[in-house]
Amino acid sequence: VSPRFVKIVEVGPRDGLQNEKSVIPAETKIEFINRLSDTGLSVVEATSFVSPKWVPQMGDAKKVITGIAKKEHVNYPCLTPNIKGLDSAIEAGVKEVAVFLAASDSFSKKNINCSVEESFDRVKPLITKAQENGILVRGYVSCVVGCPYEGPISARKVAEVSKKLYDMGCYEISLGDTIGVGTPGTFRELINTVSQVVPLKALAVHCHDTYGQALANIHCALEMGVRVVDSSMAGLGGCPYAPGASGNVATEDVVYMLNGMQYETGVDLSKAIETGNWISEQLGKTNGSKAARALTLK
Ligand code: HMG
Ligand code: MG
Repeated sequence: VSPRFVKIVEVGPRDGLQNEKSVIPAETKIEFINRLSDTGLSVVEATSFVSPKWVPQMGDAKKVITGIAKKEHVNYPCLTPNIKGLDSAIEAGVKEVAVFLAASDSFSKKNINCSVEESFDRVKPLITKAQENGILVRGYVSCVVGCPYEGPISARKVAEVSKKLYDMGCYEISLGDTIGVGTPGTFRELINTVSQVVPLKALAVHCHDTYGQALANIHCALEMGVRVVDSSMAGLGGCPYAPGASGNVATEDVVYMLNGMQYETGVDLSKAIETGNWISEQLGKTNGSKAARALTLK
């Protein structure tokens, strides 16, 4: 892989749509994922096999993942919080799952109803079973800079959780700035600290843009050698258990920046913009990507 290649993990259909109040028909989600697959993205996180009592918007996970036109060179990971979710994912033919933990106990309890320590007990057998079934496992760590309930989180704590998750068998660790409070200052320290215990090539950054710092933080991570970036078309997103958290950084904006820096992503910016405009229209929203708005008006 070229050192100029940056893998973009599109999280719009999952992180983007999980927070929407109105019911989005499975058909719309399916078409969104199919359109995303045609932009050149190599990873499209499709849905979550979580409890529909907790996140009703993802209650159609099976319908969505079995309804899409899967492309050979695109991965469609799905979130699984427990063995029950993994079993449903296996049944639906999923090839990659993602587990999600937090660096903060309070957030962990709100999001998955257990402490960080307990979440490892939950995730360990899940990873083992996934591996037995030939399924890759990605790991998310939430609240890597700050927690909506506890405030600042230390990079040391994040490194500890990330290492444990990596050692358990996650091939990639996505560092989630759930509430978007990070700056290049805190990100530099975060990546410095975490990369001492997890290889840089196994790290991803997952930036919510609540404070408008996402692109700056991604730029900082790239300069430090990170080559995997999570983003969401049209800047959709938020977490139901992180009040006030805004969307993820917009994929169109990330691609625009990376193009300008001569990084390769494989993503066709004009197709991405079309897709972002399409989903925004479906949701009755303004496209949250600044690059998309500027280039659409042109
Ligand atoms: P719980 O209530 O402790 O679980 O929730 P439980 O085992 O007691 O089960 C309660 C009910 O849910 C039972 O149903 C289960 O069958 C059902 P009942 O018997 O009452 O009818 N259930 C399930 N149904 C379908 N699929 C499942 C499943 N599991 C249980 N997998 C649990 C614990 C983890 C299930 C719950 O808290 C949950 O689903 N949480 C998910 C929360 C979530 O999806 N959050 C958003 C994703 S994380 C995120 O956005 C952050 C990220 O983007 C990174 C970042 O930005 O930081 C990744
Ligand atoms: Mg997120």
